[in-house]
Amino acid sequence: MAYALVTGASKGIGKAIATCLAKRKFDLLIVARSEGLLQENAAFWKQKYGIDVQYFSIDLTQPAAAEKVVEWINAHHWQVQVIVNNAGYGLWGYFHELTVEAQDKMLQINMQTLFNLTHLMLPHLKNNNPAYILNVGSMAGLQAMPSLSAYSASKAFVNTFSRALHEELRPLDIYVTLLAPGSVDTHFVEVSGMHHMEKIAKKTSMQAEEVAEIAVKALFKRKKQVIPGFPNRLAAYGIKHLSKNRIEKIMASLYRKKD
Ligand SMILES: NC(=O)c1ccc[n+]([C@@H]2O[C@H](COP(=O)([O-])OP(=O)(O)OC[C@H]3O[C@@H](n4cnc5c(N)ncnc54)[C@H](OP(=O)(O)O)[C@@H]3O)[C@@H](O)[C@H]2O)c1
Repeated sequence: MAYALVTGASKGIGKAIATCLAKRKFDLLIVARSEGLLQENAAFWKQKYGIDVQYFSIDLTQPAAAEKVVEWINAHHWQVQVIVNNAGYGLWGYFHELTVEAQDKMLQINMQTLFNLTHLMLPHLKNNNPAYILNVGSMAGLQAMPSLSAYSASKAFVNTFSRALHEELRPLDIYVTLLAPGSVDTHFVEVSGMHHMEKIAKKTSMQAEEVAEIAVKALFKRKKQVIPGFPNRLAAYGIKHLSKNRIEKIMASLYRKKD
């Protein structure tokens, strides 16, 4: 079977999506920084599902990261049919209080690495079609979010780019699905520095395994977009129909740190 490439498969949503693909007997190419976790996951999936799993430890905030991942794949002549652009994170805080360097790195992984990897992998997808791309955007990209300004803008890029690519690549037998989750119980809140929201996030979050199963089903049904969970779809409806100004004020108050 051809390989599925999953970025950010060491933990969280990416690990859960990789598990769903392993259950469907895809061989896996998994990428993230945590070599120990990648090694552990690879050994587990190989043993449990009888598939091949290869891993590559790399920091995907590096400008040449996508090129390095593709060099690794091409050097081994692995054939890729599925790409899951999942690796990414948020940074909570005001634009003027966060450093430019920290925000640059986040923008790099959330947008540029996803963009470059998708383009560089097109020859693989054309050779192994029908082929599939699952891009992990976010409900955070459905509106501007004060105190997550650069993050929400980066996810707006992923959301819009993925929906346009769905139309462009369909004639090539390559199917793009945008996954736009709401809150999911992963390391996201901790990594983003939103410690003041940990309790509320725990209460309102979906589990990564549930989100992943919904996403992978939508991917192979060739859906343009999936927002997992009825409450999230209801919120998305509200976001679409309320005034932008009102939504931004609600978001500013929701995500502000209360003293
Ligand atoms: N959780 C949510 O509420 C939520 C909601 C909407 C969208 N999302 C999106 O879902 C995606 C996955 O996040 P998650 O919630 O599963 O968070 P997570 O548990 O923190 O997992 C993030 C994954 O990305 C990898 N990653 C992070 N920084 C990296 C870097 N510099 N280089 C390479 N890999 C890196 C991590 O691996 P290493 O740490 O091993 O590098 C990990 O595998 C992100 O794109 C996020 O924006 C999350």
